[in-house]
Amino acid sequence: MGFNKVLGLLMFLISSYSHAGVGTPPAAANACIGCHGSGGVSASPLWPNLAGQKEGYISKQLQDFKSGQRKDPLMSPISLSLSDQDISDLAKYFSSLK
Ligand code: HEC
Repeated sequence: MGFNKVLGLLMFLISSYSHAGVGTPPAAANACIGCHGSGGVSASPLWPNLAGQKEGYISKQLQDFKSGQRKDPLMSPISLSLSDQDISDLAKYFSSLK
């Protein structure tokens, strides 16, 4: 393979990575997928699916867990580490999944 071909492939990989945009999980989602599933569909009957849930609903639940308005032994401690920006990114991300 010539140098130009290698360079072309490299540029393609870089540009397709940075254009991934919609559907790229925010870093904070790493803390969620163990329970809610990498595609937002949970593996356990006790853990709700988040895929396709309304963005406004998800962000309200996370704010409520954080403020103590809604309480859950699993979600309450997790929500404390989320910033408002994380909550908005996560709500956008999970609501965008099908
Ligand atoms: C240890 C497992 C676990 C992890 C990790 C976890 N969750 Fe949850 N989550 C739950 C459970 C269990 C519930 C249901 C709580 C209840 O019954 O009130 C829940 C509920 C929710 C709800 C409310 C859903 C609804 O239908 O009302 C949202 C939104 C949510 N989680 C988002 C997240 C996000 C975002 C993360 C990552 C920052 C996360 N969760 C991490 C277990 C988990």
